[in-house]
Amino acid sequence: MGFFGPLKPLHRTEADGKALAKTLSWPHLMALGIGGIIGTGIYTLTGVGAGLAGPGVILSFALCGLVCACAALCYTEMSTMIPAAGSAYTYTYSAIGEIAGWVVGWALILEYSLACSSVAVGWSAHLVGWLRDGIGLELPAMLLNGPHAGGLVNLPAVVVSLAVMGLLLIGARESATINIVLVIIKIVALGAFIVLGLPAIQSGNYDPFAPYGFIGQEIGGEKVGIMAAAAIVFFAFFGFDAVSTSAEEAKKPGRDLTIGILGSMAVSTVIYMLVAAVAVGVAPFREIANSGEPLPHILREIGYPIVAAAVGMAAIIALPSVILVMMYGQSRIFFVMARDGLLPQAVAKVNAKGSPALITLLTGVFVAVFAGFVPLKEIAALSNAGTLIAFVAVALSVIILRVRMPNAERVFKTPVYWLIAPAAIAGCVFIFWNLPRQSQMFTLVWMVIGLVFYFAYGFWNSRLRKEKAE
Ligand code: ALA
Repeated sequence: MGFFGPLKPLHRTEADGKALAKTLSWPHLMALGIGGIIGTGIYTLTGVGAGLAGPGVILSFALCGLVCACAALCYTEMSTMIPAAGSAYTYTYSAIGEIAGWVVGWALILEYSLACSSVAVGWSAHLVGWLRDGIGLELPAMLLNGPHAGGLVNLPAVVVSLAVMGLLLIGARESATINIVLVIIKIVALGAFIVLGLPAIQSGNYDPFAPYGFIGQEIGGEKVGIMAAAAIVFFAFFGFDAVSTSAEEAKKPGRDLTIGILGSMAVSTVIYMLVAAVAVGVAPFREIANSGEPLPHILREIGYPIVAAAVGMAAIIALPSVILVMMYGQSRIFFVMARDGLLPQAVAKVNAKGSPALITLLTGVFVAVFAGFVPLKEIAALSNAGTLIAFVAVALSVIILRVRMPNAERVFKTPVYWLIAPAAIAGCVFIFWNLPRQSQMFTLVWMVIGLVFYFAYGFWNSRLRKEKAE
């Protein structure tokens, strides 16, 4: 029993009917990682980030890449050491204690569910842009925006959320295979953008490089500057952690998770740096700040309307892979929390195909509601807040377990962990600090609600507490 409640054992065997089927290998996991990483962040938020930082958004991307690389190393150590479903929630539960684990699980709801909602909204913008510029079809504005923008509901975002949920209900194996195809489409589209954009770069667009400074200032109540942009484009980087949520379903967790997490992170970071440098080099940053689909927009501007339509189409086809990965991760986390007794056990049942159906259904509906009614930047910022909390907890877990169990078997060891883990923590705290104030406040309220839930239900029904009491 730790200060934060009981500690979950590092390895435990689940009873029949409660273990997930081992169907995934490293190509699936790497695709799952890239599928989760490359999405609305680079396809849409590059524009938002450029508006906040100017060309300096390249630095925002670099900084987030650095912090996420540190976090990814910590995730790899933890996920290979504790290859059980549940990701950051499970690691924190084992390293720090039940209450801390619950808090992280609760933060992961922000990360995973709201990432799905954000990507659904980004997808909707690409669909609308493609229909408008590609085939001249304008959809009724009432059905494209939530009430915040004078509309009724973002219907395409709702539809795509529910469609992906349906895919997940069919089963993990099928979904992961489709995901590999979508990932290839996504990378080819970004590659086309880089290759065509490079020759169109005008060095004058990089000057001034940081019009709003590094830490920045507040303009009209909004934080601007390179760090404010980093706090938003951070969204583009996570998703690799979703790989760890499928640890229990990996055939050879040590090999598969290491390649899956670190490989997907490395590939995505290189692509991002290039895309960001090209985007703000080709177009004046103010021009792309308000575009929901900045990459096709830029391609149209430099005279490639057909490639623009193709890149838009690639986003439309492939962005759902991010929703797929994140929704998959969310359903697995809910599943493990329920299996641990912190959420009602009835929802933790797996179906004949080995996936938790009821929980997938609940997640899908939750995601669709946010996607339909809340603006992109706000949901993305909240999703970032949840992720940052989880990253801090994972890095902290690495440190705690290294100290408490120095000789435990570690398939992957974070190099110079005493430097990397604190760097991940400091980086995440700094990025969190630069999030919009209202996102920080909402996150605080969300966490308080989570604690109320815990003491109303989880505390009394925790499987571990009951076992310890016997
Ligand atoms: N990194 C993911 C994206 O950018 C969540 O869509």
